[in-house]
Amino acid sequence: MEWWKQTSIYQIYPWSFQDSNGDGIGDLKGILRRLDEIHDLGVETIWFSPFYKSPGEDFGYDISDYTSIDPRFGTMEDCDRLIKEIHKRKMRVVLDMVMNHTSDKHPWFLDSKSSTNSPKRDFYIWRKGTKKTPNNWISMVGKSGWNYDPNTQEYYYSNFLSFQPDLNYRNPKVKQAMFGVLDFWLKKGVDGFRLDIFNSIYKDENFRDNPFSLRFFPTPDNHDEAFFQKKQFNLNLPESFSFAKEVRKHISKYKQKPFLIGEVSGSDKVLKSFLGEKADGLNLVFQFELIHFKYKAKFFKNLLEKNESIFPNPYTPTYVLGNHDQRRYIDRLGGDIRKAKLLVCFQFMARGVPIVYYGEEIGLKEGRISNFSGKDPIAKMNRFVPLFLSNLLGIYINRDNCRLPMLWDDSNNGGFTDGNPWLPVGTIVKENTVKSQKNDPNSLWNHYQTLFHLRKKYDVIREGSLETIPTDHEDVLCFKRTNQKHTIIVYLNFGDKEESLFQKEKGKPMYAFGGAAVDGEIFRLPAHSGLIFEILEKKSSKK
Ligand code: GLC
Repeated sequence: MEWWKQTSIYQIYPWSFQDSNGDGIGDLKGILRRLDEIHDLGVETIWFSPFYKSPGEDFGYDISDYTSIDPRFGTMEDCDRLIKEIHKRKMRVVLDMVMNHTSDKHPWFLDSKSSTNSPKRDFYIWRKGTKKTPNNWISMVGKSGWNYDPNTQEYYYSNFLSFQPDLNYRNPKVKQAMFGVLDFWLKKGVDGFRLDIFNSIYKDENFRDNPFSLRFFPTPDNHDEAFFQKKQFNLNLPESFSFAKEVRKHISKYKQKPFLIGEVSGSDKVLKSFLGEKADGLNLVFQFELIHFKYKAKFFKNLLEKNESIFPNPYTPTYVLGNHDQRRYIDRLGGDIRKAKLLVCFQFMARGVPIVYYGEEIGLKEGRISNFSGKDPIAKMNRFVPLFLSNLLGIYINRDNCRLPMLWDDSNNGGFTDGNPWLPVGTIVKENTVKSQKNDPNSLWNHYQTLFHLRKKYDVIREGSLETIPTDHEDVLCFKRTNQKHTIIVYLNFGDKEESLFQKEKGKPMYAFGGAAVDGEIFRLPAHSGLIFEILEKKSSKK
């Protein structure tokens, strides 16, 4: 089975991971310094949010040079060394690749906007228009995607913020240039790309108006209908589905067998179209259902069953609890570590790729920075919306809050920086740093470490089939993973009271937490505890 189907991914947001030069911003040398710790945790693949040259208006998602490193983070030598050191530890590297748009300070765009005759004019999407925008398209941030340029008296299109002009993939030169960028990094040995807002790559050739929709708020897993529009003509176009295959084909000639993971959103049908009807499109897509989990056994059971029926092998589901755009899951659990352990066990034991956002392993908390004082451009756009209101409406505005510096130890600034941190460091209590949690066998960090390592050790977890098992206990989720050699059964009690279950098959606990224990044929599962049980019978059979 291909390696990327079996891996686990850990996302590093370079701004906030580890500073090495005292400027208050994380950097590559800092990450290098922490590499052994990441390895020790058991991480297999590291995904880096962008560290390319960028004005930093969207903290790196506005790139002005795809093949150089932003001086804030270090140099190309640092990057080469980082890649080498990651590989030396048998881990892999995935870079974030923003193909949809550049920064408006990118030389291509500066050239493009200089004149309607610029050779780079067609690198971007320009339309004539004076007072009226060329059509009704609303961007993903809820305003018209058209931006007027008084100099050339035309509009350019941006499906995100106006300083992020969309590239025009109907121009073969754009494709060629971006494939060149992928080649540059693949030759350096990177093992894959996370493709930023890949659902937005193509826009309708005829610029037709989007139809009306009743829906206003987007959700993490659905941007297709939002802001009273069905985004039929500016998101998820069939051309984007075909392009996914083209990129896959392009990268697959590299010997490291790199993979693509797409940030796309929409119905399962849309996700599947990106993955390709023969699983020949993007290797993986982010599946964001876990972001708005309901803490109920039924929710998780339904999710597993849905993924097994819609994304069966050779498709590989992904399980995502958070990222640099979403409220941290620990806050949605009211900080309850017992519940966090249950969720993470689910994430790691399901068939698919678990994706962990830095800090989740220690329960790093959300910040409380108001929308008004946010550095995030989305917060700046909505600065007059009070935090309590956005929280009440369940919309996440100030992404600074999920990007706070990592807490390594209880020294100054949690060991993140000697300088002035670019975002405030969260409150340090002795128990919530990496260092303190490493020393506590019951900590969340240790739970993550166990799960990362169990995945490494047991093929059945990485590649076995999955089946849910009905129980008489409404609050208990039970599922089985099987391959030729092993069967394991996972029991998770989402309820507030202890449950006892019968288990007749012979076996032994592989891992128990939250007080779960086996007593003969009876399993005792205290509230919010979990147990992974290994069935022994099959072990004797050959192969
Ligand atoms: C993606 C990124 C987000 C960024 C946006 C524009 O959604 O995850 O952080 O702001 O794309 O590039």
